[in-house]
This record gives sequence, C-alpha cells and structure tokens, in this order.
Amino acid sequence: MAQFINLTLPVMLLLSLFSIEALAEPSLNRPQPRYDPQTVAYIKSSCQTTLYPDLCLRSLHRFANSNIQSPKHLTHVVLAVSLSQALKTREYLVQVAKRFEALKNSKNRRDYFVVQDCLTQINDSADELGHSIKELERLNKIPTTLINDDVLWHMSNVETWMSTALTDASTCVDYFPGHRMSKMKAEIRGKVLNVAQVTSNALALFHRYAAKYREAAQSKRP
Ligand SMILES: *[C@@H]1O[C@H](CO)[C@@H](O)[C@H](O)[C@H]1NC(C)=O
Repeated sequence: MAQFINLTLPVMLLLSLFSIEALAEPSLNRPQPRYDPQTVAYIKSSCQTTLYPDLCLRSLHRFANSNIQSPKHLTHVVLAVSLSQALKTREYLVQVAKRFEALKNSKNRRDYFVVQDCLTQINDSADELGHSIKELERLNKIPTTLINDDVLWHMSNVETWMSTALTDASTCVDYFPGHRMSKMKAEIRGKVLNVAQVTSNALALFHRYAAKYREAAQSKRP
C-alpha cells in the first residue's frame, strides 16, 4: 500500500500539472517554437478586449509566427481575415442562389430572394472591408508619433467603413433567425455570423487604439 501511494502521488501530481497547463494554455500556446512568444502574448491580451475572444484567437492563430506588436497591424490582419471570409461567403451565396434559381418553383421563391438579399449585403460588406483596409494603409503611412488632423481623419474613416461592414453583415445574419432552419440556412447563417463577428473584433481592436489616440490628441490641444 505504501508503495502504491509512493508511486501514485508523483504521477497524480504530474497529471494535475499537465491538466492545469492544458487549461491555462489554449491552442495558441502549444509548444511550437516557430511562434514568436511576444506576438502570442500580445495577441492574447488584445483578444481579451474583444466581444468574441475565442474567435479572435482562432482567426489570428496562424499569424502567431509573425511579428505583430501594434494595434494597427493587428487590426490589419483581422480585417484581412474578415475580408477573405466575406469573399468566400459571397462565392458560396452565389452558388446557393444559382441552385435556387434552377429550381424555379414557388416554394423556393422566398428563400431565393432571402439568399439574394443576403448576397447583396455580404457583397457590400466585402466592399466596405476593402475600403477600411485601404484607409488603414493610408493611416499606416503616417508616423505613429504624429498627432494631427490627417491621422484623426483616416482613423474615423477606418471606423466608419468597418462599422458599415459590420452592419451589413449583421443584417444578413438577421435574415436567418436561429431556430428550426434547414441545414443550408444554418450553414449560411454560420458563415455570415463569422464575418460579422470577426469584423466586430477588428472594430473593437481598432477602436481601443483610436480612442487612446484621440485622448492624447485632445490633451495636447490648447
Ligand atoms: C457586388 O457588387 C458589385 C458592385 O459594387 C457588382 O458589380 C457585383 O456584381 C456584385 N457581385 C455580386 C456577387 O452580387
């Protein structure tokens, strides 16, 4: 018996250590040496401030080996993910709309129009995400230390494009209320919801940075 305890105790301790480790460290931090630990820490702490932190971590996971250390860079990466999801979703909706059109029966007419409307929203959303990325790139050309109206102007443009993109994607989500849906509708909803949530995260990340900048700009004014 004594021997049993002697053996189990260290094993138990070891096991509990492992499980604590597993709990404390989500997939982002699994030992993968190519990940830059500073970037990982930065991504984690930034994602905690968003509405969908898990999704934020997941969407940034494959960028953890790059050197992301600024909120502008982080926003840029999240926006690029969001745009790529929006474009994929648009392609998907184009295919779904074609299938509905081919059926051409009155039973599916309503669904066809809903899909078409959603396609319009996601198309707009993708367009607006593209605009916000362009504005962010314009902003990135200006040195971060500078406090001036040009920076404030680009910042507010980035936010406007992003929130419009979020509104359009969310409008499409609302077309598919989440109960008793066909598999296909649930799939559409899942895809557009993803676009909306990733965009919401990008907006949150950028907004926090912009708010700090505005505060600094305010305090430097007479
Ligand atoms: C998306 O919008 C553009 C105009 O902004 C239009 O030319 C294009 O046909 C639209 N694509 C789809 C799939 O609706």
